[in-house]
Amino acid sequence: MRLEEHLADCDEDLKELILRIGNVCKTIASGFASHQTYSDTQNIYGEQQMALDKWADEVIIADLKKSGIVKYLASEEQPEVLKFKGTGSLGVTLDPLDGSSLIDVNLAVGTIVGIYRGRVLAPGKEMIGAMYVLYGPLTTLTYTVKKGVHDFVLNPDGEYVLMKENIKIPEGKIFAPGALRKNYLPGHLKWMETLESQGYKIRFSGSFVADVHQILHKGGVFTYPGYVGKEQGKLRLLFEANPLGFIVEQAGGATSHGNGDILEVRPIAVSQRIPIYIGGKDEINLIEKINKEGLRT
Ligand code: AHG
Ligand code: MN
Ligand code: MN
Repeated sequence: MRLEEHLADCDEDLKELILRIGNVCKTIASGFASHQTYSDTQNIYGEQQMALDKWADEVIIADLKKSGIVKYLASEEQPEVLKFKGTGSLGVTLDPLDGSSLIDVNLAVGTIVGIYRGRVLAPGKEMIGAMYVLYGPLTTLTYTVKKGVHDFVLNPDGEYVLMKENIKIPEGKIFAPGALRKNYLPGHLKWMETLESQGYKIRFSGSFVADVHQILHKGGVFTYPGYVGKEQGKLRLLFEANPLGFIVEQAGGATSHGNGDILEVRPIAVSQRIPIYIGGKDEINLIEKINKEGLRT
């Protein structure tokens, strides 16, 4: 089944948005070879922008701006929320290229999108949909509009065809731990040691979207925790934690900042960072239990 058919009974503008982004991401997938250099600019997080970060951001913004269905667009590569003219009512959050520092070593990277009916500075639970496109050996598109999580693969004819429907996160013993062990906070260290004692294997690539995609299919947990000196962690609430947390929750998993569901957090700033745990319910319950009960567990 093609993506367009799978979206048949979806709100017209939501369907068009997902198809549009899928289309633009085909252009991005074909653009890697010609946009690999670093630019001489930094984003608002002080991170040097890859030429591809900026190019991907520009092509997606240009397409959504003329779509007539989007009102607000918040991008990781933009300093503030963009407001488009016209009658569109959708709000979009965008990480145009997640894991971009890995392109020059040929590891999988992706485009992450959160979708709201209206403003984007809202709790993740208000999303009406979320999706990501993963550029790996295959180009795949994963989406939810709150009726299951579904995977599509880009075929040689340039069509996204259904690969797996109604994905449910399985039990699995892999974990993707970000940040440095020497800076772990006590509760996080206790949690890590518990998982290690249960035989969890490390699978951390440096690309959030690729690591979470693996955990969505094989089970386990991804974390980029708060740590000594950066208690809010590294990853962004709007552009990374909310959309992928939403997808994993729709697939029967869970997400937490260590003391509660990330999707409940009311954002105060577009650039807000948040400690992230995303994966199976057991692993998420364990970190919250450790943090709540102290280290007695
Ligand atoms: P982005 O390329 O959008 O800035 O995201 C990179 C993020 C995330 O993808 C990944 O999990 C994390 O950075 C890796 O950080 P470290 O290099 O500190 O491990
Ligand atoms: Mn990112
Ligand atoms: Mn990015």
